[in-house]
Amino acid sequence: MKKATLPLSEVYRLLEPGPVVLLTSARGGSANVMTMSWHMMVDFEPPLVACVVSNRGYTFGILRDTEECVINIPTVELAKKVVGCGNTSGREIDKFKKFRLTREAAVRVSAPLISECYANLECRVIDASMADKYNLFLLEVLKAWIDRSKKNPRTIHHCGRGVFMVAGRRIKLPSKMK
Ligand SMILES: Cc1cc2nc3c(=O)[nH]c(=O)nc-3n(C[C@H](O)[C@H](O)[C@H](O)COP(=O)(O)O)c2cc1C
Repeated sequence: MKKATLPLSEVYRLLEPGPVVLLTSARGGSANVMTMSWHMMVDFEPPLVACVVSNRGYTFGILRDTEECVINIPTVELAKKVVGCGNTSGREIDKFKKFRLTREAAVRVSAPLISECYANLECRVIDASMADKYNLFLLEVLKAWIDRSKKNPRTIHHCGRGVFMVAGRRIKLPSKMK
């Protein structure tokens, strides 16, 4: 066999889902934003999304207490800000100010939308029973927004160690999936 052993610590780099998103949360009038790539779809409708939010970050406590957030989907133009939001903490700085991101009021939750992102998903936590053990939250999308003028949004996908893949060419194949 020509293949080499891959350290288990590297496995996530093969299965990393995408796109990288910006998760916004809010408490007591102040809002925060963190970068997140560990998320997955769990159901079509209502849309359910599982995501991992580390208990080391500032967002974890806000999400657990308020049970609300927004998943904002950025495109490659925002890549530097995305990395910035993933390497700083809302405990120390106002990331909206620092990275010049525009807050917009959501309809169903108190966390804000990020205007610069091409899509925004207003979510509530429907299951946090695995948050203590795995930092895992199950979210239900209550309201979804999209900028339809962006015909081919070039989302970014994390490959680990500062490497990202930019979404490109699309192909259409017959499929029974939605
Ligand atoms: C590309 C990228 C992806 C990330 N994905 C996640 C993730 O899925 N879950 C997580 O808990 N942290 C993730 N992080 C790290 C958090 O964004 C980082 O810890 C951030 O500082 C937390 O912010 P906060 O303290 O304001 O909540 C990621 C960082 C980057 C740069």
